[in-house]
Amino acid sequence: MDIRVFQDNKDLDAAAASLIAELVAAKPNAVLGLATGSTPVGIYRSLVDTAARSGISFKSVSTYNLDEYVGLTPDNEQSYAYYMNQHLFSKIDIPLNRTFLPDGMSGDLEAHCAAYDAMLEQAGVDLQLLGLGHNGHIGFNEPDSQLSAGTHVVTLDEATREANARFFSSIDEVPRQAVTMGVGSILKAHRILLVVRGADKADIVKRALTGPVTTDCPASLLQTHARVTVLLDREAASLLATGGNEGCSTFASAM
Ligand code: F6R
Repeated sequence: MDIRVFQDNKDLDAAAASLIAELVAAKPNAVLGLATGSTPVGIYRSLVDTAARSGISFKSVSTYNLDEYVGLTPDNEQSYAYYMNQHLFSKIDIPLNRTFLPDGMSGDLEAHCAAYDAMLEQAGVDLQLLGLGHNGHIGFNEPDSQLSAGTHVVTLDEATREANARFFSSIDEVPRQAVTMGVGSILKAHRILLVVRGADKADIVKRALTGPVTTDCPASLLQTHARVTVLLDREAASLLATGGNEGCSTFASAM
């Protein structure tokens, strides 16, 4: 694993955005796996700026999002479809018909999940962006004795609903279910970019990156992937032995 620690969150955002922009510059029809939540907001802002500055076009890029709540329409401000339009798609030149998210409103969620997996399989994700849940979830793959490989419907942990309640007017409005790519689909991406910020995630970062590989911490399965880049702010990295605190330090994980 290539782990980089940043003093400044703007530098972290810029580093993540450059990795994505460099991929798109080198491969104009790149397939991006995208995430939502608070972690990528600054990354998308930086990516929009980078694209405008350097003239990178997303016309031939396609994107597949990790997850979507069940029961929220794309025009609902809390839906991930709305988030993606707001933070990224409306600000770059990507055709909307090249952007895909699971459809939490599908009348046949099981068939929809299978169709989403078939699309992912055919497209082949070049770079998957991930955030990390406090309980070690990636996408909405919550800790469990078994993890699903493919896209599936998941019942959200109460801890996840509580963590995400900040985006809603009350916890009662947070959906109880979501559709998420499975860990198997995530691990099929050619390259993975995991971004984590904040002292409140220091413990789970340590478990995910240096603890045992276990379905109790879904992110620990990233240790089995050959090409993972992890970008952390100092707080999120505070329980790792980083070997350096100035600027951006790069080090190999202790695994
Ligand atoms: C979002 C997603 C989640 C988040 C995770 C961290 O699409 O799949 O796994 O990445 O819950 O969320 P934030 O960034 O809000 O702390």
